[in-house]
Amino acid sequence: MIKRLDVRDYIRTIPDFPHEGIMFRDVTTLFGDPRGFRMAIDLLLHPYAGLRIDKVAALEARGFILGGAVAHQLSVGFAPIRKKGKLPWKTIAQEYQLEYGEAIVEVHEDAILPGEQVLVVDDLLATGGTAEAGIKLIERLGGEVVGCCFVIDLPDLGGRSRLEALGVDVHALCA
Ligand code: PRP
Ligand code: ADE
Repeated sequence: MIKRLDVRDYIRTIPDFPHEGIMFRDVTTLFGDPRGFRMAIDLLLHPYAGLRIDKVAALEARGFILGGAVAHQLSVGFAPIRKKGKLPWKTIAQEYQLEYGEAIVEVHEDAILPGEQVLVVDDLLATGGTAEAGIKLIERLGGEVVGCCFVIDLPDLGGRSRLEALGVDVHALCA
């Protein structure tokens, strides 16, 4: 029998990383496999066929690996949303809470142009705090979020409902 490829087969879970009690979903094994990586990019893009997307925005750091490949596939530009202090030009900033801590993300003021339709990409949706911060930055610059896509959704942490409450379409490949 032919076994169908499944992104879940390429992701490993590391208990108690980076803190006790966290079940860390490690996507480096997915990124490291040529079939797994290509499948993930193709599946992330699938729901958006035929929609206008002007730019891809992704969240540092793991989101960059996916977001860059998605932007290349769509032949659109890429806007990096980075942790505080990394971007060299004028930025706007947004605070947010993580599953394990607090942080600030920033984007260059000219990374998103008013009216641009933006697809947000990240590896994992947990509480939704990171993605929400990214969405707020994009909207503050006048962009419109077409959707947010993730490889993994951790449904118990409520991220999907948090983003859907903002009116954002959420797409995830697995839970
Ligand atoms: C992880 C993950 C998401 C975020 C999800 O990134 O890549 O960006 O957490 O959590 P949330 O939905 O609760 O906000 P992390 O902040 O660990 O950064 P990294 O990619 O630089 O490791
Ligand atoms: N970011 C937030 N929660 C995470 C988890 N459980 N695994 C990997 N990245 C995460």
